[in-house]
Amino acid sequence: MWKPEERIKYTVIEDHWPTTEEASKSRLFSPIQVGPITLSSRTWVPAMVPWRSNENGDVTQDVLDWYERFASGKPGLIVVEATGIRDIASGPLLRISSDKYLSGLAKLVDTIKHASEGETRVLIQIIDFLQIRRRPDPVKYLNKHLTITQQHHNAFKSGTDVRSALQTLSMDELESVLSDKEWEDLQFGYRERITDTHLSHIAKLPEILPGLFSDAARRAESVGFDGVELHYAHAYTMASFLSATNTRSDDYGGSLDGRLRLPLEVYRAVRESCSSKFVVGCRILSDEIINKGTQVIEACVIATQLASSGMDFISLSRGGKFDDAKQPRVGGAVYPYTGRSGYECMPSYISDVQGPFGRNVEPVAKIRETLRYHGLQTPVVLAGGQYGFYQAENLLRENQTDIVGFARQALADPDWFQKVKLGLGAEVRLCKYTNYCEGLDQKHKQVTCELWDRDNLNETGISLTHDGKRRMLAPLWSQGENR
Ligand SMILES: Cc1cc2nc3c(=O)[nH]c(=O)nc-3n(C[C@H](O)[C@H](O)[C@H](O)COP(=O)(O)O)c2cc1C
Ligand code: SF4
Repeated sequence: MWKPEERIKYTVIEDHWPTTEEASKSRLFSPIQVGPITLSSRTWVPAMVPWRSNENGDVTQDVLDWYERFASGKPGLIVVEATGIRDIASGPLLRISSDKYLSGLAKLVDTIKHASEGETRVLIQIIDFLQIRRRPDPVKYLNKHLTITQQHHNAFKSGTDVRSALQTLSMDELESVLSDKEWEDLQFGYRERITDTHLSHIAKLPEILPGLFSDAARRAESVGFDGVELHYAHAYTMASFLSATNTRSDDYGGSLDGRLRLPLEVYRAVRESCSSKFVVGCRILSDEIINKGTQVIEACVIATQLASSGMDFISLSRGGKFDDAKQPRVGGAVYPYTGRSGYECMPSYISDVQGPFGRNVEPVAKIRETLRYHGLQTPVVLAGGQYGFYQAENLLRENQTDIVGFARQALADPDWFQKVKLGLGAEVRLCKYTNYCEGLDQKHKQVTCELWDRDNLNETGISLTHDGKRRMLAPLWSQGENR
């Protein structure tokens, strides 16, 4: 992963935790209304893909166990990981793309509600993404995948076998013969973009996506989810429509109005397909952190438009784009969290003078302030480097956010919420922000946390990862065991 040049190492230390009484009077552990539902606290576990599904995208027993473990900590809300809305093979990513998934998803909702004794509300993050292929072997690419064009013929004497001739070129020569897109496909692997409107399925995205998202949301409501989070963030289709890099020349790109058109149409279609008791919100970026990307000033306008259209919440992440991702090895797929934008999405303990904690605070506060200025009370959710009670409580007291997201901290210790509420904050297993978990995600390996995945591997009844070396779930905690 990309790291800031300064390479300053930060250690997470927190020796100040509230008593039970302080916690009970805190804003963090006070209820908040999110559209039609009330959260028991302003704590939120943002979406995290743990690679626990199977090739069919089913809710497996491992998926149930994973969310049961998070729910037993009783956060205010859990967002179930990015879940695909298209019925296409997408590796072990959960899917909600057909009614065949309903019974599994219903079980998932029941599991979370049961494990949290009804305290934790549950949303599902619904996602669309475009096709991406692994970085090809150069010989195979030139022999098989490259479509030979006049431009390639022009580089050689007439009658030359172009495919064979291309293989004799040095990389520099090849770069000058291939088009920019072909060169990128060779270096990074083929990747579709929303601007590839010469491809009819890309041109037609605005026609098909409202239906796909609304069908997914209808399914989510039918199995008991409290709502959906529309994934309008990071490297995926809807974020690409919102991006300042969206140069589509139809009505769905170019100007900010054009870029917002599809996200608003998707939202309206989703809203119409669900009842008024169902939460519909979205996750967007406070800043794309890429060259010529959307910055916070525009994100304020985007958030305002989305909130005015009726979104029940706006969750704010940052970065996580393909645009600045590192080149993958041959046979590997480009991963959108390997460049600077990826760092800003999941900052690690090796950082710069600003440090890895709270890099998203100022932009989120600005976006929230803009919403309030326009008379919009829509709650905003902040994520990025949150691990401490007072850190979160101060953000709420200073009106910088309405809800605090704890992603990696909840992974490091799913019982954070219970421990802190019970005045047992000193027992919290603090995230070290090493991004070991994110490294596993990158390799599509079952995600675990290094702080607990080698603990007590002989414990009876626990399940282990495919390689048999790591436990799948954080060890159980019961009150007072560490005292
Ligand atoms: C293993 C892993 C998987 C993630 N998967 C998703 C995802 O499915 N959708 C999403 O919007 N963000 C995803 N994220 C980003 C987190 O939701 C969160 O924004 C990020 O980790 C920063 O918050 P934190 O500092 O509290 O971890 C993932 C993060 C991790 C570590
Ligand atoms: S592996 Fe654990 S400690 Fe490291 S960043 Fe992930 S959650 Fe935090």
